[in-house]
Amino acid sequence: MTAIDGKVVAITGASSGIGEATARLLAEYGAAVVLGARRTQRLDELVQDIRDRGGRAIGCVTDVLRQEDLERLVGGAVAEFGRLDVLVGNAGIAKIGPVADLDVDGWSAMIDVNLRGVLNGIAAALPVFRRQGHGHLVTTVSTAGLTITPTMAVYAATKNAVRTLLEGLRQESTDGVLRTTAVSPGFVRTELADSIDNTQVREQILHNMGQIGIAPEAVARAIAFAVEQPLDVEIGDITIRPTVQG
Ligand SMILES: NC(=O)c1ccc[n+]([C@@H]2O[C@H](COP(=O)([O-])OP(=O)(O)OC[C@H]3O[C@@H](n4cnc5c(N)ncnc54)[C@H](OP(=O)(O)O)[C@@H]3O)[C@@H](O)[C@H]2O)c1
Repeated sequence: MTAIDGKVVAITGASSGIGEATARLLAEYGAAVVLGARRTQRLDELVQDIRDRGGRAIGCVTDVLRQEDLERLVGGAVAEFGRLDVLVGNAGIAKIGPVADLDVDGWSAMIDVNLRGVLNGIAAALPVFRRQGHGHLVTTVSTAGLTITPTMAVYAATKNAVRTLLEGLRQESTDGVLRTTAVSPGFVRTELADSIDNTQVREQILHNMGQIGIAPEAVARAIAFAVEQPLDVEIGDITIRPTVQG
């Protein structure tokens, strides 16, 4: 038994990597999980696997660019499990490369998914949290926003925009209703590099992930730590990176 037992948690970007690992771990700890992403087959298989292990899970096809999808994700949690305790805004892409490449489409895509996607989740969840009198927003940002490295400028900017957003929301929400947590992972072995169009940069990131990347389960444990705290305790920021990462 942990304090996670019985919580209702919606996760965006749940079809792979950190989102999937978080879904599995929280479900194992007794949370009901509501899983959003675009790849339906991956979602269906994950939901089935969690259920086969005795967990409670539903899937909800979600493109975070579509506000109505986030409304359905949050609404699905409330309809199926009675409320929403936690929204993990985890969906993200990394179309990284030097700014000089002028990948305007890639910049827009990152701003849309990494920032607007989180805003869409907040817009859907906040009214429910206010109505309930409690709620917790967890977002996956990145160490890319803490140590700015070449090729990651725009990606880092989107992540730091979310960091700023959460801090602003926290300052506006000191009535005790809302908790916010920004989780900053370093290199984690996931499918994130698939979204990188620049071949050379993709190879480099894949190399780094393979050499030093930690397992997504490590980030899931950090998220679980934030989620399991009592309602009067807010874990604002967690940085979790490979011990050998510079
Ligand atoms: N891996 C790392 O080293 C690392 C480090 C720091 C931060 N992060 C952050 O961690 C988060 C999770 O990434 P990951 O590393 O676990 O990579 P991943 O395995 O590629 O997972 C990304 C997830 O985001 C979802 N996604 C992408 N675009 C979406 C959209 N428009 N609508 C809904 N879902 C969308 C993907 O699902 P679908 O394609 O099925 O929609 C997938 O489930 C991201 O925010 C990433 O920036 C990762």
